[in-house]
Formats: sequence, structure tokens, C-alpha cells
Amino acid sequence: MNNAELYQRSNTLQKRDALDCLEEYKKKLNWKNYETVIDIGCGDGSVTTGILRKFLPNDFKQLIGCDISDKMIDYANMKHTSDYVKFIVMDIAGNLPDDMKGVFNHAFSFYTLHWIKQQEVTFRNIFKLLAEGGDCLLVFLGHMPVFDVYRILARSHRWRYWLKDVDKFISPYHDSQDPEKEIRRMMCKIGFSSVEVQCRAKSFIYNGLDALKRAVKAVNPFNLPEDCLDEFLEDYVSVVRDMKLIENDDNVESSVKVNTNYNLITVYGVKRTTLIT
Ligand SMILES: C[S@@+](CC[C@H](N)C(=O)[O-])C[C@H]1O[C@@H](n2cnc3c(N)ncnc32)[C@H](O)[C@@H]1O
Repeated sequence: MNNAELYQRSNTLQKRDALDCLEEYKKKLNWKNYETVIDIGCGDGSVTTGILRKFLPNDFKQLIGCDISDKMIDYANMKHTSDYVKFIVMDIAGNLPDDMKGVFNHAFSFYTLHWIKQQEVTFRNIFKLLAEGGDCLLVFLGHMPVFDVYRILARSHRWRYWLKDVDKFISPYHDSQDPEKEIRRMMCKIGFSSVEVQCRAKSFIYNGLDALKRAVKAVNPFNLPEDCLDEFLEDYVSVVRDMKLIENDDNVESSVKVNTNYNLITVYGVKRTTLIT
């Protein structure tokens, strides 16, 4: 999932969900003058500048995108940097640089936090990034059929070796019975206030198997040899077919549809450490 060029051509689902969530929460975000904003797990930077940027007031002070991948950050800096927008390498589950703590009035994250196993460390770090009164809007995956496909492939003789770390790449909430309660409890323990957590059923249709394969390739987390990738994608589609998620399968490619029903988790919270009287 280091190929920024491929990712920015195949992230229609991620862009749609980022836009929907920002539309839904735009009135709740408490904008003031001259504020500092961070986008955590910004990837190629296209959501940061093409979508999030449009929801910021004109007089914002700075928008910083951060990502663990230096390849993503190099690409984002090459394509999307401007006077007020910059991109840096940072692991949100690692040790934060001191000069990033308590700085941000708003923290956003789209389609990233389900990649991270250390959820409590990550949420604590988001709390640390925020200035007093700052808020966060975080969007990530709960249950998603892609993760079941990974698990099935990981049990096959052909892919067992390459997918041995499969559990590292499955959302911590994929099997969770009540992710809303789990996340709310963790955030309250950390000290967030005004916490809202929603886990909602969503769906997305890929028009054609090629569109599905492109999207799978763009977020493929496994270190597969380049010459095995096409075979992997064929086997991926076979599992999706067995799961009966493909419509008009016998028809021409243009009428084939792949249904994806998944749960999207949206989280809002505020850092307020002093009592308002
Ligand atoms: C699916 S992309 C989402 C990119 C962008 N936010 C979007 O919505 O299009 C997930 C990104 O999270 C980044 N990521 C994964 N783990 C991370 C971590 N611990 N800290 C920061 N970024 C991380 C990956 O490198 C990848 O670029």
C-alpha cells in the first residue's frame, strides 16, 4: 500500500466516505480563526487537499498531513504542498515529536486507523496532538468482507506463506460485537469529552472485476512478489465469487457488479481538560 500513484486512481470508495462524513459533521466542527489542522494517515494527500481542505475556513493557519510511509509523503509533497499545506512522515502509534503535542485545533483521519493494532496508544496520541478544546473526526473500517477474503486466502496452500501476517492487516473491529461501546469506553478513559461513535452499514458497488482488482491492488498490504500479483488478484476474485458477491457474472465485463457491504465507524471527540464554569 505504498504506491501513491495507483492509490490516488483507485480510492473512489475512500473519497466518497470522507466527503459524506465531513458533510455530516461540518456543523459540529467548532471552527475559529487561524487554526492548525492535521490529517492522520494522509496517504497520497489527495483527500487532504481535494476534500478536507474544502471544509476548512479560508483563514486557517496550517494544514499538515502525516503518514507512516515516506513514499506516500514524498508523493504528497511533490503534488500537493503549498504555503499553508505540508506533509510529514509520522507514525501515529509511535513516539510523537514534542513539537507536535498540544498544537492542533482539529485532527482528522480517513481510512487509516483500522490499519493499526495499538488502538489505545493511537487514540492517546491523537489526544496528545490536540490543543485544549480541539476536536477530532476519525473515519475507519469495522467489519469488511475484504478481511474475510484475506483470511480465506491465508488458509490456502498457494498463499499461506505470503499471507502469514494476515491478522496484522485485519481491522481490530472486524469481529467486534459492539465496536461503538468499545471505542467510546476507550476514549472516555483517555479523557475525551463529547464523544460520539457511530458504526453504520454502508455499501459500495464496483462496476466490473477490473475496478475491484485495481482497488484491491491499491491497498494490498502483503509483500507479494510482483510476478504473483495477477494470480493473487484472480484468486481474490474467485473467493469473492464463492461468497456470492458478484452480479451478472456471466455477462460482459461492463455489466458485472461487485457488491461490498461493510461497516464504517465514525468517531468524534473533544479534548477538554479544564472545567467550563
Ligand atoms: C487507505 S490509506 C488512506 C489515505 C487517505 N487518508 C485517504 O482517505 O485516501 C491508509 C494510510 O494510512 C497510513 N498508515 C498506516 N499506519 C499508519 C500509522 N501507524 N501512522 C500513520 N499513518 C499510517 C498508510 O501508510 C496509508 O497511507
